[in-house]
Amino acid sequence: MEKRDGFGSKLGILAAAAGSAIGLGNIWKFPYITGVNGGGAFLIVYLICIALVGVTIMLCEFTIGRRAQMNPIGAFKKLSKGGPWWIVGLSGVLCAFSILSFYAVVAGWVFAYVSRAITGSLIKVGADQIGGLFGGLISSTGEPIFWAFVVLVLTALIIVGGIQKGIEKYSKILMPILLVLLVILMIRSVTLPGASKGLEFLFKPDFSKLTPTGVLEALGHAFFSLSLGMGTMITYGSYISKKENLPSMALQVSIADTVIALMAGIVIFPAVFAFGLEPGSGPGLIFVTLPPVFQSMPLGGVFETLFFTLIGIAALTSTISILEVVVAFVCENYNMARKKATIMIAAITFFFSVLCSLSLGTMSDFTIFGLGFFDLFDALSSKILLPGGGLLIAIFVGWVMKKEDVLDEVTNGGEIEFGLFNAFMFVTKYLAPILIAIVFAYSLGLLKL
Ligand code: PHE
Repeated sequence: MEKRDGFGSKLGILAAAAGSAIGLGNIWKFPYITGVNGGGAFLIVYLICIALVGVTIMLCEFTIGRRAQMNPIGAFKKLSKGGPWWIVGLSGVLCAFSILSFYAVVAGWVFAYVSRAITGSLIKVGADQIGGLFGGLISSTGEPIFWAFVVLVLTALIIVGGIQKGIEKYSKILMPILLVLLVILMIRSVTLPGASKGLEFLFKPDFSKLTPTGVLEALGHAFFSLSLGMGTMITYGSYISKKENLPSMALQVSIADTVIALMAGIVIFPAVFAFGLEPGSGPGLIFVTLPPVFQSMPLGGVFETLFFTLIGIAALTSTISILEVVVAFVCENYNMARKKATIMIAAITFFFSVLCSLSLGTMSDFTIFGLGFFDLFDALSSKILLPGGGLLIAIFVGWVMKKEDVLDEVTNGGEIEFGLFNAFMFVTKYLAPILIAIVFAYSLGLLKL
């Protein structure tokens, strides 16, 4: 049998897993849904979801993947020995399409901004016109579709390169640069006049602003941001060497992801208030708040170009991890060549991306359950498939896999110490499934607190 490709070094795995987790979820989505849901109180619920459920499910996914050495569908089949559990893997593969379709569109907006930043035209747009520019971009037909296409082509090229030479190589260089840039921007943002109001909005909880759907959104976003519930971390887990410490890796990735989201919040909200913008303005938030920040700083145009480029790259390290789930499945299950599978899957995704993009313009009247394609795919993945997948993954590790096998995998066959194993099993078996079920019931109105 051909040797399975895998990650070459510990730093490489961490960069790739963190690269998957850190993306538009942190920099685009987290600030805007925090804004829509009223700030601080939402943040607290989000942090609780990460700490109680997120880290645990990440470890569950790594465990399933490394134990089975397979793509998610194959992994569930192998470890459950004949049960219907492979359906969880299948739902992950479908979810991958659902996420990638709208994600590529948003990543495309970022690239459209990069091209404008490079030519220097973006830095000239005043704070009062930037909203119009963004609205015009996303509702037009050709430009966003062109950039979504570019995103999918780049993603496919890296995927064809394989694990070590593709995913790992790029993640290792690019993630640290993003971090440095965020620090610079944070400093600029909190020193803007009126910045403190933004920090207050983000860190001072007002629970009267929190709604049941807000709680589900926080949970769903914890899954989205950590790339959980659809098999990404199962797939990456299957490439992790048997020597690595899975629990510490799950913890490190979760912390890195959360820190980046908080940093993005500290960049965005002070700027929102300093420039008199609306924190609850929705998906356009970073696209309309950041340009005025850059205008207010020396070398703004250079920083602007660099920053949007890095967000674009952070998005790519996530899109590759989404596409990889489907590619790994198709290659292993149908014995197809990696290149052929990648091209085919990227082409199908592109078709859905076109629908998502058009739903914000020409096709805005076409809705399903009252939602256009863009919102539909977003809601379907974040509010249903990811938390639902997470629930089943927890049940699988807690109740279906043998406890000895789980222990064996997380301790590398007893080689390493995992003092919190019993706590981990408790959360996996009871706490996580119950919490997720409660949030579902609460947000559907079946339960009132
Ligand atoms: N975690 C990624 C982000 O925050 C998105 C993602 C979701 C990636 C699900 C993989 C799987 O941008």
